[in-house]
Amino acid sequence: MLIIYMDNDTLWDTIKAHTKHINLFCKDITLQNLWVQYLFFMRKSAIGDISGSYVMYEELKDIINKYVLDTKNICIHCVGDGDRPYTSALLNMYYPDITINSIDPTMKLDEVVLPTNNIIMHKTTIEEYTPDYSMFHEKPVEIVVNVYGHGKIMEFYKSLDKPKCLIGIPCCCKEHMRCNISIDDMKVNEDLMTLCNKIVVIVEL
Ligand SMILES: C[S@@+](CC[C@H](N)C(=O)[O-])C[C@H]1O[C@@H](n2cnc3c(N)ncnc32)[C@H](O)[C@@H]1O
Repeated sequence: MLIIYMDNDTLWDTIKAHTKHINLFCKDITLQNLWVQYLFFMRKSAIGDISGSYVMYEELKDIINKYVLDTKNICIHCVGDGDRPYTSALLNMYYPDITINSIDPTMKLDEVVLPTNNIIMHKTTIEEYTPDYSMFHEKPVEIVVNVYGHGKIMEFYKSLDKPKCLIGIPCCCKEHMRCNISIDDMKVNEDLMTLCNKIVVIVEL
């Protein structure tokens, strides 16, 4: 049996970081978006999942505000979202106009009914996924979002035309080659409690 010990400081930092994001998230819960909380709280790992997804929302908000992007012309590809569209749901809560593709081979299509048409669930791998742009009048800004997702995410990102961005929390920082990005090129987020507190942000607008 493998036992992993966490020292008290690390444990306390983790609790503080997650509490901060959970509090911010819960402050924004309304009757209309209560379904997002319900979706997460069905999961054992809800606390960490909300925290990671919330950090992605903060990065997305920074990009949208800084570059004054029209949310109706943004197409998100949320890779490795889980068996339900978790991060997609949290992003939709703040940006209901954005078209969000939630991509995961384990997606339980039959078990999820969403109160929005702007999240499109895809039960497939990123390697097999083909984006659909038919709802856009012009080339959308494409944003790849990755919360601990697996698969050839960087290859997919590279295949997209500009304008495009990537924001992600690489799964298992020690194996960050999954994202093909050097750990030195990642942004530090002190509030994000993962193995290395690092996130990937690439903006090509
Ligand atoms: C560590 S989990 C992360 C799930 C979720 N984003 C979260 O934060 O809890 C990795 C996810 O990547 C998915 N996955 C595995 N291979 C994939 C691939 N080739 N393309 C897209 N997703 C993949 C898995 O099914 C799994 O849901």
